[in-house]
Amino acid sequence: MYAQMVKSEGMKSLEEMSPEERAFQERIDANEKIEPKEWMPEGYRKTLIRQIGQHAHSEIVGQLPEGNWVTRAPTLERKAILLAKVQDEAGHGLYLYSAAETLGVTRDELTEKLLSGDMKYSSIFNYPTLTWADMGAVGWLVDGAAIMNQVPLQRTSYGPYSRAMIRICKEESFHQRQGFAIMMKMANGTPEQKEMAQDALNRFWFPALMMFGPSDADSVHSAQSMAWKIKMNTNDELRQKFVDETVPQAEFLGLTVPDKTLAWNEEKGGYDFAEPDWNEFFEVIKGNGPCNEERLSARQKAWSEGAWFREGLTAYADKAASRRAAAQMAAE
Ligand code: 3HC
Repeated sequence: MYAQMVKSEGMKSLEEMSPEERAFQERIDANEKIEPKEWMPEGYRKTLIRQIGQHAHSEIVGQLPEGNWVTRAPTLERKAILLAKVQDEAGHGLYLYSAAETLGVTRDELTEKLLSGDMKYSSIFNYPTLTWADMGAVGWLVDGAAIMNQVPLQRTSYGPYSRAMIRICKEESFHQRQGFAIMMKMANGTPEQKEMAQDALNRFWFPALMMFGPSDADSVHSAQSMAWKIKMNTNDELRQKFVDETVPQAEFLGLTVPDKTLAWNEEKGGYDFAEPDWNEFFEVIKGNGPCNEERLSARQKAWSEGAWFREGLTAYADKAASRRAAAQMAAE
């Protein structure tokens, strides 16, 4: 099975719920926010830890494909912008780990689960970034897909997660625009630059569509997550919205979406488009994508080489706490 079994099957109807569960569901249905110390069903807590944890890991691992280009950015200005973007992603990871910690799990525990392969991160970061145009495609398509998913999450039912999403979405919008700005430059540049932009779009289009998760028919968590308003839309709804917004942007760039079946469907008011190769998606999330090994080993190396630093920080915090305690005793 490709998913963690925090199950959606066996969802309870209101009648089957205990009084506590029913009161909780009624609060959710009334769009109340749930806060850390309040009662919540164990499944709600576990689902949030899984989703927020995976989201945090995606932000952290997501630094790697772009960090790879900081030293090779074509101008000082591009370098400074890319560096700021990569730092923002680290910040997003930290807000999200903090939000997850309010649910009774530590950041170290989550990191260990990432490194052991027990928790996932977004499939998209297992694809390589081969050219500078890929920095444009990542900002435009990957951050664009991330925003499409995350703007609704500002209204998610868990208070700390929804509040973290507000700042994250503002920063992701800047990321998307910087990517589109790179694409505009490349698409309006020399024929070779335009070709690089087209090649980047060709390689990132379907992996970007996969970011929204499996089709609704295969999504094991959606039903329960939507009943709890942990997710606000289904995977297919968001994928459709992304295609509808992105195709005109590709046209504006003078680039071709690599999907021969793409066609406007007047009746549904959206595009018909080809599904990604779901076998490829399932292989990537099982660990067999082009860069899974490279990404995880980079995180493993950072974790083990940073051990002395984490120990130093803890020792410093312990010393500062005992100094404060001694000063307080002396003052009493
Ligand atoms: N990559 C990796 N795993 C994925 C995935 C993807 N693109 N899409 C789905 N999966 C996994 C799920 O995590 C789940 O596995 P698990 O049980 O081991 O966790 C399994 O596939 C089943 O899929 P479901 O549709 O049932 O899972 P969800 O209901 O959790 O939906 C989701 C998946 C839409 C990604 C949802 O978790 C979500 O909205 N998460 C929050 C947003 C997020 O994590 N975004 C990461 C994007 S990258 C990013 O933000 C970085 C930025 O800098 C670009």
